[in-house]
Amino acid sequence: MSSTAAAPVVTITVTGAAGQIGYSLLFRIASGDMLGEDTRVRLRLLEVPQAAKAAEGTAMELADCAFPRLESIDVYDDARAAFDGVGVALLVGARPRGPGMERGDLLEANGGIFGPQGEAINAGAAQDVRVLVVGNPANTNALIVAAHAPDIPADRFTAMTRLDHNRALSQLADKTGVAVTEIERVAIWGNHSATQYPDVCHARIAGRPVPELIDAHWLEHTFIPTVAKRGAAIIEARGASSAASAANAAIDHMRSWVRGTPEGDWTSAAIVSDGSYGVPEGLVCSYPVVSRDGAWQVVPDLEVNAFARSRIDRSVAELVEERDAVRALGLVRPEGIR
Ligand code: NAD
Ligand code: LMR
Repeated sequence: MSSTAAAPVVTITVTGAAGQIGYSLLFRIASGDMLGEDTRVRLRLLEVPQAAKAAEGTAMELADCAFPRLESIDVYDDARAAFDGVGVALLVGARPRGPGMERGDLLEANGGIFGPQGEAINAGAAQDVRVLVVGNPANTNALIVAAHAPDIPADRFTAMTRLDHNRALSQLADKTGVAVTEIERVAIWGNHSATQYPDVCHARIAGRPVPELIDAHWLEHTFIPTVAKRGAAIIEARGASSAASAANAAIDHMRSWVRGTPEGDWTSAAIVSDGSYGVPEGLVCSYPVVSRDGAWQVVPDLEVNAFARSRIDRSVAELVEERDAVRALGLVRPEGIR
């Protein structure tokens, strides 16, 4: 590994480093895809003790790539050490739903992972750490992390809906035969689950409003369910959940957060709600967002029609249910994150 002395250096911790997403994500980070070629990276791979050896193997492969901007690679099985001084944290490792597990069991099992990781971030991370939760249920896991890190500002915690956003772009491009680069102002609202609302009310394709270009029936009955259920379709086809596309979306999310979103367009990210658009304060909810000066901002003053309102409300109701379940388990205090 070599270094470019003048370039800034960022310490990045990836959890679940020996998993499927980790195997795709780590190489993209190390090559400079995420933070840019002008930034050096120190990678930390966090795994459970049983998977630490596999993570060591991934670390060996990372070294063998001789990435010019990869300063160091270290493997940890201890969250406190892994998050000490971290600037970017990608929380990928999570407990998958097993046979016979109810949603409450899943939330409790993940609370056992994300609660301690939040405490470790609180104890050691940089104040301006950027946290992206990928592990499902991503929004509520992010809520748990943030609730366990009371000294870190709430706007440092996010969950990933960029994959849903990218899926929406791809479906629209396929339907209309245009390049994804011609499509703007798509939004994902709510939870990273089948209740999410992929919204094209304000979207434009080659400058023309989507509602004028594509019939409402296709949008409601094909586009929305295809995007919202794409994760399940991939599991059905692959026998495993999306991995390379999830890693790609994590790269996109973090790069947009750090380097900004293009003028005139927006993207989607689940951030801690400030009450915008009637979403209860403190929920980790996906919104249309822009990134300016390194901070996410909800796109303001969008008109929300009755159909959109009902879809947003349905997904937000699911987030409220999940929040109430983790509150009942004592994983989040009744007063919320702060
Ligand atoms: P995987 O099972 O291949 O890997 C998960 C890894 O996490 C395993 O190596 C496991 O040992 C590790 N892990 C478990 N607990 C840990 C802990 N406490 N600390 C550190 N590591 C831990 O799973 P995957 O395919 O990489 O997917 C990871 C998660 O991402 C899953 O929850 C999946 O549902 C989710 N996912 C989210 C999105 C999204 O868009 N938000 C998309 C795809 C997948
Ligand atoms: C996805 O959207 O591909 C995943 O979140 C699906 C899953 O349940 O892992």
